[in-house]
Amino acid sequence: MIRPILRMGDPRLLRVAERVHDLQAPELSTLVDDMFETMHAADGAGLAAPQVGVPLRVVIFGYSDPSIRNPRYPDADPVPQTILLNPLIEPLSNEEEEGWEGCLSVPGLRGMVLRYARIRYRGVDLRGNAIDREADGFHARVVQHECDHLDGILYPMRVRDFSRFGYTDILFPGMSDADD
Ligand code: NI
Repeated sequence: MIRPILRMGDPRLLRVAERVHDLQAPELSTLVDDMFETMHAADGAGLAAPQVGVPLRVVIFGYSDPSIRNPRYPDADPVPQTILLNPLIEPLSNEEEEGWEGCLSVPGLRGMVLRYARIRYRGVDLRGNAIDREADGFHARVVQHECDHLDGILYPMRVRDFSRFGYTDILFPGMSDADD
């Protein structure tokens, strides 16, 4: 079921989400199914549970088919389809990288955000299997963006140069998702 995505200004996006304790809870698998349906319907690169009003440390991102390119991020490297619960991120160096970000909770806008260039991230999937990966580039950016949602942080809070924050269709004329 597609769930409504909360938009910036909603205080529920600013909460610190709770850790998931019960992986067996049926609501949890329904939540993840609904998050994928909601993310795909919106052509998102990722989605965090707080964006659908659920204050749990659950994020999803990526595509099952690596040949699929996200129309909202056509130049981005493929990101493996992932369900990540209770994530932890550590930077692998102090190097930071600039990149344009959008967010389904901030429709129609893009902003330039600095993120760690290389990270290690850990967590578990729905079966409790450990996930422990290193990532860079767009993959690392998506993980950092989604995990920020779990701490109530939206990417505009990280924009430092507001001359590089604006409407997608003005910044990138001709891009397919002018109304994202
Ligand atoms: Ni977002």
